[in-house]
Parts: sequence; C-alpha cells; structure tokens
Amino acid sequence: MSGAPMLEIDNLTRRFHGLVAVDAVTSYVNAHELVGLIGPNGAGKTTLFNLISGFIAPTEGDIRFEGRSLVGMRRTASPSRHRPHVPEPAHPAQHDGIRQCVHRCPG
Ligand SMILES: Nc1ncnc2c1ncn2[C@@H]1O[C@H](COP(=O)(O)OP(=O)(O)OP(=O)(O)O)[C@@H](O)[C@H]1O
Ligand SMILES: [Mg+2]
Repeated sequence: MSGAPMLEIDNLTRRFHGLVAVDAVTSYVNAHELVGLIGPNGAGKTTLFNLISGFIAPTEGDIRFEGRSLVGMRRTASPSRHRPHVPEPAHPAQHDGIRQCVHRCPG
C-alpha cells in the first residue's frame, strides 16, 4: 500500500457532558479496504460513526478524508457523498431492509 490512508481518525474524542462516549480513538482505513467495528453495547460505535459522517462534532481530535480535515466543515460543504449518514431506525421493523433505509436517507 502506497500513500496516505483514505480515512484517518486522529485522537478522536466525544464527550456528552461528563460521559466520554469515544475516548481518543486513532485509526485509519485504506482505500478499497472493508473494515468492521465491533464492541459491547455502549462502547461508542454509533457515536464514532456519527462523528465520521459529520452528524455530530468531536470534542477533540481530527478526521481526515484524503488528507483534508472534515472537522468544522459543514456536511453540505464537505464531500458528503463520501460519508453518507444512515440513522439507526428506532425500531428495526420500521424499515424493510437496508436498501429501503438508504433510499429514505438523503446524503
Ligand atoms: N446524545 C447522547 N447524549 C448523551 N449520551 C449519549 C448520547 N449518545 C450516546 N451516548 C452515550 O454514549 C455511550 C456510547 O453510546 P453509543 O450509542 O455510541 O454506543 P454503541 O457502541 O453504539 O452501543 P450499542 O451497541 O448499544 O448500539 C453510551 O454510554 C451512551 O449512553
Ligand atoms: Mg450503536
């Protein structure tokens, strides 16, 4: 693999008042790589994806896509098609499947 990673997550932290939901996460994803994230309930998986998609802002740290920092960038001004956000359904039965869910969620 040559060049910088496609996605870089650098010391990413998100606090909700006193609660540290994402604690100084540093990682990267290379182009054409498929990566999963596993962890127990409440580990911060959804919060991490919400940070990457720009749905919420980090308390500290940086997210870089192809070398450009996305932190502080409005989703509408950012390469948003590269970081779509699909909200979790309140109830799984609410959606017929992932295809229907993606069609319902612009951006
Ligand atoms: N908007 C919020 N306000 C306050 N606390 C929050 C908020 N969102 C998440 N949290 C808290 O942050 C922590 C991480 O939550 P998160 O939903 O990211 O975990 P998760 O790994 O996705 O869990 P699950 O496996 O249950 O989906 C939890 O303690 C949760 O209660
Ligand atoms: Mg979750």
